[in-house]
Amino acid sequence: MFKIAVIPGDGIGPEVTSQAVRILKKASHILNEKFEFTELKAGGIAFEASGKPLPEETLKAALASDAVLLGAVGGPKWDSLPYESKPEQALLGLRKSLELYANIRPAILFDALLDASSVKADIVKGIDIIVVRELTGGIYFGRPAGIVEEAGTRRGINTMTYTEPEIERIAHTAFKLAKTRSKKVTSVDKANILHTSMLWREVVNKIHEAQYPDIELDHMYVDNASMQLIRRPKQFDVILTENMFGDILSDEASMLTGSIGMLPSASIGEKHSLYEPIHGSAPDIAGKGLANPIASILSAAMLLEYSFKQKEVARKIFRAVESVLNQGYRTADISSSKENVLSTEEMGAKIENAI
Ligand code: IPM
Ligand code: MG
Repeated sequence: MFKIAVIPGDGIGPEVTSQAVRILKKASHILNEKFEFTELKAGGIAFEASGKPLPEETLKAALASDAVLLGAVGGPKWDSLPYESKPEQALLGLRKSLELYANIRPAILFDALLDASSVKADIVKGIDIIVVRELTGGIYFGRPAGIVEEAGTRRGINTMTYTEPEIERIAHTAFKLAKTRSKKVTSVDKANILHTSMLWREVVNKIHEAQYPDIELDHMYVDNASMQLIRRPKQFDVILTENMFGDILSDEASMLTGSIGMLPSASIGEKHSLYEPIHGSAPDIAGKGLANPIASILSAAMLLEYSFKQKEVARKIFRAVESVLNQGYRTADISSSKENVLSTEEMGAKIENAI
């Protein structure tokens, strides 16, 4: 039996997550394996209920589960809360406590969505990129951080820091992944300016030379990489980068695939793993059945593949998504006409049937 902690969160989180759970139930049926789902609160909804974005019981249950499926957290309603109480702290707290240092974000363009991409068809056709984002270090977690007051002037501070072991382990993740693909890694940094990036580049080179000489390795500055992603995205296969650069570049990469509603992610550590769409809580469309559940459904497929080693059924889900898109079904974010536009739930149902 597999124990799955389900954290729907805020905004469109619950809508898309329930469709991913529907698909997991279908997978459980196909595999003839029992999945036990435990629904937990985190984010703004948890703050409302308990005054904390990440209640202890949620963290405890997440730690005790075999995998976590998360929706999204955050919303304008909680923007003015103190830092520790903000919904986003639930996500950072989970990532840190579960030691989920490797965030894997595949950006794949389905042929059926060629017209939905913001970039011309011949430039994006066939792209299949994976962003490997370091997730528990860098400027998101560095100390000191805060807003201080000095002689009547306020100053905001964040610290970007990386240790050698932190860089080593994420580099291994990227190189190992590249071995199973086209054997190419582009490491993205800002080594012309940042000390963290200088160390990053040095360590990535060291790991590469010592253990992965058969993999092609390029280095690229982050400003150039963000331009190259639009100019010639097919030059990329595995992109290895630090926390904040990966946050930004993965949103950019999602637009190559038609919509941010298409990108799943897996956050992996030595002991735990969490799966979530890369999109946010989209409060403007929450509760209207407009959200695209595909990113969440593909996150569930990654959960089956990475945590439960069920690659076959994960492929089945991927192909079901592909076939539903090939049949012309869309959610609003990826539709170019008003035909065949489905609600969140209808899209989930179509994909379930296609499986
Ligand atoms: C993401 C999100 C998060 C991040 C936010 C919600 C904290 O943008 O998962 O990409 O910045 O990591
Ligand atoms: Mg982001």
